[in-house]
Amino acid sequence: MDINSALQVLRDPFGLPFYAWMFQGLLVLTFTLHILVVNLAVGGIAVAMYCHFKGGEYRRRLSRALAQASTINISVAIVLGVAPLLFVQVIYDPFWYASNSLSAWWAMAFLLAITIGFLSLYVFYLKRQKDPDAWGGYAVLSLVAVVAAGVIISALSVQALVPARWLEWYAGCGRLNTTGTGLYYFEVGRFLHFMVPAFINIGIFMMLYAWYFRPRPDHDAGYLDWVGRSGARLAKVGLMVEIVTGFWWLLTLPGNLHFMRNPYMWAGAGLGLVLLGLFYRAAGNPDRFALPLAFLSFVIVLLMSVARELLRMGYLGLYNYSIYDYKVNVDWGSTALFLATFVLGLVIIAYPLMVVFKLGRGTLKEPR
Ligand code: HEM
Repeated sequence: MDINSALQVLRDPFGLPFYAWMFQGLLVLTFTLHILVVNLAVGGIAVAMYCHFKGGEYRRRLSRALAQASTINISVAIVLGVAPLLFVQVIYDPFWYASNSLSAWWAMAFLLAITIGFLSLYVFYLKRQKDPDAWGGYAVLSLVAVVAAGVIISALSVQALVPARWLEWYAGCGRLNTTGTGLYYFEVGRFLHFMVPAFINIGIFMMLYAWYFRPRPDHDAGYLDWVGRSGARLAKVGLMVEIVTGFWWLLTLPGNLHFMRNPYMWAGAGLGLVLLGLFYRAAGNPDRFALPLAFLSFVIVLLMSVARELLRMGYLGLYNYSIYDYKVNVDWGSTALFLATFVLGLVIIAYPLMVVFKLGRGTLKEPR
């Protein structure tokens, strides 16, 4: 049996409950949100850890604020990870399940790593509520665990792209390898391309922090100026590193994928240069640039996600596989229920978020 026939057989015989384009669009959108918040969590833990060990009044204060924010960001990252997980399992099921079965222990270790990362971050945050000099080792543990989780999920994602190699991993040594203990394929350049933006996005987050707390009388201007300027500097350096890692990864991709001609990748890279120029301008007035930079970063990550999805289609196209020839059995009931709860959920959450935003900023008006 050739690989394409094997992949067709591995598909869900019931087919898709709606057209593939909808699941693909939602996969790209939710992956964008997931990776942005992953960036904020990883970057936040890293900066909180650094500032804790380096010491100094402003750094310690920022460390406490970022540790607290990161507990929320890591929770949101986990919740937003579930969404692309659902969509990838629907349209790329043969690939996702094969990769996860080949490395089943690692898929379990991923959950353990997330749990350790999450709990140790909480301990780091809570311990310093009572004692500002509490041991910072929990932050190191949290960062190591969360990065390990990222390594595992990235390996599972790239293993899924190369079905021609599954047989070699499963039966390459002359006997069947059913242990699930191997992790077979990892691309450092790809991983860095998605993780280095942690420093860009946490830098922008720090600029937003300065802008957000500016109207509050209990936050002194000197501290907020320092946070905003440090954020702009960190984001600028992070972006320079990202440009280097991006091109490094690009050069390691197989030539037959023709990714060099991908317009979304070049659009993202072009906007990245605009972002770099804006960081230079933002150094003098971070508050003014915080919101436009956050928006631009979102657009760039969205383009990166579209390019990542086109790359996946390119990889699987080598095996004549397309999600667009998946059998479709439209189920209007479940699709309508899904979309209705999705939209209603957004509407319901919008109001409390708006109130919390204004309360935290001190701009909520008293009712007359
Ligand atoms: C907080 C720790 C996490 C980190 C650092 C992290 C990091 C990443 C990275 C770097 C990627 C891109 C992989 C690549 O394409 O090479 C990714 C993708 C993904 N993540 Fe996460 N992640 C985390 C948590 C989670 C959780 C808890 C879930 C699920 C509940 C999840 C689900 C996914 C899925 C399904 C993808 C791949 C989506 C696709 O193939 O399009 N992640 N993650």
